[in-house]
Amino acid sequence: MTKRQTRLFFVVTTLGFAAIFIGLTLHTHTRFDELTNADRIDEQVIAGKRVWHQGNCVNCHTLFGEGAYYAPDLTKITDHRGEQYLTAFLRDPSRFYSEKTHRRLMPNPKLDDAQIAAVIAFLDWASDVDTAGWPPRPILVAGGTFPGTSVVNATAGPAVPGQADAARGEELFRTAPPGCFACHSTTPGVKLAGPSLAGISTRAAALVQSPEYTGAAEDAAGYIRESILEPNAHIVEDPMFAANGQSFMPATLGQDLSDEQLHHLVAYLMTLN
Ligand code: HEC
Ligand code: HEC
Repeated sequence: MTKRQTRLFFVVTTLGFAAIFIGLTLHTHTRFDELTNADRIDEQVIAGKRVWHQGNCVNCHTLFGEGAYYAPDLTKITDHRGEQYLTAFLRDPSRFYSEKTHRRLMPNPKLDDAQIAAVIAFLDWASDVDTAGWPPRPILVAGGTFPGTSVVNATAGPAVPGQADAARGEELFRTAPPGCFACHSTTPGVKLAGPSLAGISTRAAALVQSPEYTGAAEDAAGYIRESILEPNAHIVEDPMFAANGQSFMPATLGQDLSDEQLHHLVAYLMTLN
């Protein structure tokens, strides 16, 4: 290439790529309303955004990956935790975490119930914004396993239609959604937002025979299935796990699972004995 050709190449490609970049930026801007579900921004969501600012939540948390990195990103928190749990958590975070074990504690934000409902509505709106998967970090507080670092006991083989596969179930358990691992540890005695599921199949078999059991399952697998589909059928006794007969485990998780996925999950949990 001559000097003149080189210069021309530089100018043309630079201008070309600049034009593409500006075009894509403008295109994104024209789609803001659609990407952010602008029609869902009601009074409640706006009030919640105000609570978010007044509470300086962003001093510790990130939303859409923006903010401080002291505490977990909250972009998808309502999908992971559900409204019941979040309401109880925001009323008093110290009921759920201990400074001693988790080495950090969210101060009580001292919100009234209307402010709590508003900030949850705001976070729920945020969770539906199409961020193309951003931020990529898993949203975890203490415990749990980060995807990619989990120790899956066996690799899932090719799917056999209609056959439950515990390895597939374990994979499901550790991925989000459904995000079971964000609330349940499989290490004995480790309480996260939900009870440890270590030994669940043995425990469940004894439970369904006992007089305290309030659900309709007849065996351990049935109990596990019921726990996922109808968390309120039998609630594990603990003030950290439920309030007013409402389990903090979202009742919607089962609806998002196919029958097959549910079979895999139950098969996996049945191996924890
Ligand atoms: C001083 C830092 C700080 C501030 C300010 C703060 N948080 Fe937190 N938040 C934390 C920490 C740390 C955690 C992790 C749990 C823990 O250790 O208490 C957390 C956890 C959470 C969780 C997840 C709980 C769970 O179990 O998954 C939610 C939801 C949350 N905060 C909401 C808020 C909201 C809403 C505000 C603003 C009103 C706020 N936080 C302000 C530090 C903070
Ligand atoms: C937001 C937190 C949360 C998520 C997410 C969650 N759970 Fe739970 N889970 C709980 C809580 C709290 C309890 C205890 C209260 C109750 O009995 O419903 C519980 C109870 C259970 C039990 C009964 C445990 C026992 O000792 O009897 C099983 C089984 C279970 N969950 C499985 C799952 C599976 C599988 C998933 C994923 C599909 C899941 N959970 C997702 C919070 C959660």
